[in-house]
Amino acid sequence: MSPANPTILVTGGAGYIGSHAVLALEAAGYPVVILDSLEYGHPELAQQHLKAEVIVGSTTDRLLLDQIFATHKIGAVMHFAAYIAVGESVQKPAEYYHNNVVGTLTLLQAMVAVGVKQLVFSSTCAIYGPPKTIPIPEDHPKNPISPYATSKLMVEQMLQDFEQAYGLNAVVFRYFNAAGADPQGRLGEDHQPETHLIPLVLMTALGHRESISIFGTDYDTPDGTCIRDYIHVADLADAHVKGIDYLSQGGQTTFINLGNGNGFSVRQVIDTARRITNCEIPAVERDRRPGDPPSLVGSSERGKAVLGWEPQYPDVESIITHAWQWHQQRHGWGK
Ligand SMILES: NC(=O)c1ccc[n+]([C@@H]2O[C@H](COP(=O)([O-])OP(=O)(O)OC[C@H]3O[C@@H](n4cnc5c(N)ncnc54)[C@H](O)[C@@H]3O)[C@@H](O)[C@H]2O)c1
Repeated sequence: MSPANPTILVTGGAGYIGSHAVLALEAAGYPVVILDSLEYGHPELAQQHLKAEVIVGSTTDRLLLDQIFATHKIGAVMHFAAYIAVGESVQKPAEYYHNNVVGTLTLLQAMVAVGVKQLVFSSTCAIYGPPKTIPIPEDHPKNPISPYATSKLMVEQMLQDFEQAYGLNAVVFRYFNAAGADPQGRLGEDHQPETHLIPLVLMTALGHRESISIFGTDYDTPDGTCIRDYIHVADLADAHVKGIDYLSQGGQTTFINLGNGNGFSVRQVIDTARRITNCEIPAVERDRRPGDPPSLVGSSERGKAVLGWEPQYPDVESIITHAWQWHQQRHGWGK
């Protein structure tokens, strides 16, 4: 480990993407401190596979944040902590704005107070709303249609103002569909409840679910089902380490899509999973869900140009193979 590397505070580091980012930071020689409320996430996996100290608490707790900054020499922050369920955010907007917006504002205030001015922030492609062009560039109009997505756009706006007023620089990553698992099988995706397609497909393969639903088969796409941009979580993690390197070299606030630039349809995902798992995976065709655009694919050119980032696992086969390895060991076979 290089003594030159600053300690990184990772909020939400016991969660799916945060824990993979901690793995990558530790592999790159960064000391890490995790702050996680453990409302979600998997502290037992963090303890087993990560060196980082896990501090249990919330980004909304200013006293705790001040204590962390006073007792650890934090050089930069990676901020994953958020509530993430789009549907739930419609039912519980107050909770989402409090946790995602007030929590982030509290964190930013604590950072400014101690002069920590480098942040990597998890935003989402959901801020674009229904796309007007594919692939979606970063300057595409922003039209979030859920409180979850609006909470992320609000933070993006705060970050522009914090750069102007306080010189706090941020790399804002707008993720497309994070998927896959650590290629060595240490960590993976296990949201409760799970809403993401690939884990749901694999839980069906394992017999924990009876079938997978295909919502809409009459979209204007080659096979009639929705197309999404799946990005391997190890590639996301790698981009985050590059984001920290960019900031430590004096990089200014920037907004970057993290996707493959490649889309895969729901049917392609299910067919690929059938091949990889050798399981039948029953699928049920249902009506379209309101608000689902036919295709969501991001341009990944800016990440490549600004960070020199290149996805190592752009194919859906690797994503599903790694996720399958993880799901079998995590969940085992159902009835
Ligand atoms: N999973 C995706 O495909 C996806 C897509 C776009 C954006 N994102 C964003 O990426 C980030 C991580 O997502 P994930 O899939 O790893 O979710 P996750 O739920 O697995 O991880 C989030 C972690 O943050 C913790 N947390 C929540 N609120 C907190 C708070 N106020 N203080 C401290 N800890 C808190 C939870 O306990 C959990 O461990 C989120 O900000 C999410 O909005 C995810």
